[in-house]
Amino acid sequence: MDDTPLIQLNGVSRFFGSKTAALDILRQADLTIQQGETIAIVGASGIGKSTLLNIIGTLDKPDEGSLLFSGEQILGYNDEKLAAFRNENIGFVFQFHYLLQGFTAVENVMLPGLISRKYRGKSKKTIEKHAVNMLERVELGARIEYRVEDLSGGEQQRVAIARALAMSPALLLADEPTGNLDQKNSSAVHQLLKELNREMGMTIIVVTHNSDLAGLMDRKLTFKDGKIVPV
Ligand SMILES: Nc1ncnc2c1ncn2[C@@H]1O[C@H](COP(=O)(O)OP(=O)(O)O)[C@@H](O)[C@H]1O
Ligand SMILES: [Mg+2]
Repeated sequence: MDDTPLIQLNGVSRFFGSKTAALDILRQADLTIQQGETIAIVGASGIGKSTLLNIIGTLDKPDEGSLLFSGEQILGYNDEKLAAFRNENIGFVFQFHYLLQGFTAVENVMLPGLISRKYRGKSKKTIEKHAVNMLERVELGARIEYRVEDLSGGEQQRVAIARALAMSPALLLADEPTGNLDQKNSSAVHQLLKELNREMGMTIIVVTHNSDLAGLMDRKLTFKDGKIVPV
């Protein structure tokens, strides 16, 4: 197998506020993540966890430094190319699920596939079949035609995970995915993430306050003096 790292951040800085009174979340930080690794990003609120996740997910751009994805310099892409790249390669799960209300579970999970049709030309039937498979994978096979607002919080978060898996991304990014869930639903989501890594070799980066979830990951990272350091 190709041993090019999935993610390489080199000399990455991100400043907020004015240059003089700058809040430097990241200062010349480096990070290498291999394919198939599972990583927890931990630390106090406001320390920069979401900022880092958003930079890796190409939702935010660093002020300095480079981001390589499978060895490729992706920050130079124009917006359209970057959006297509993100849709195909990166799945996102947030604390709030951002599902489309009024649409069914399966329609929500089909959405990334439908968006990518322009590039990939898969049939709607194929996309639907895959979406159903992903919902079955998160144990929602009996809920595919439910409108998302009729599902419980734990079920909605599992729909969001199924949607993040819709394009079989190389990288799954989760920002406090169990922040809104009770203990039982949190455990189910933790198990699921770990299984997805095992079954599909999917690289997973999760921001979490939950020590159980952090403990399941291969490595725990936090921030110190603008650098990314092991815990
Ligand atoms: N777009 C922004 N503009 C200004 N400040 C920001 C912005 N995004 C984040 N910050 C600040 O950067 C710090 C880190 O934020 P964040 O990465 O969201 O922290 P965490 O996810 O660890 O709670 C916080 O102090 C936050 O207020
Ligand atoms: Mg955050």
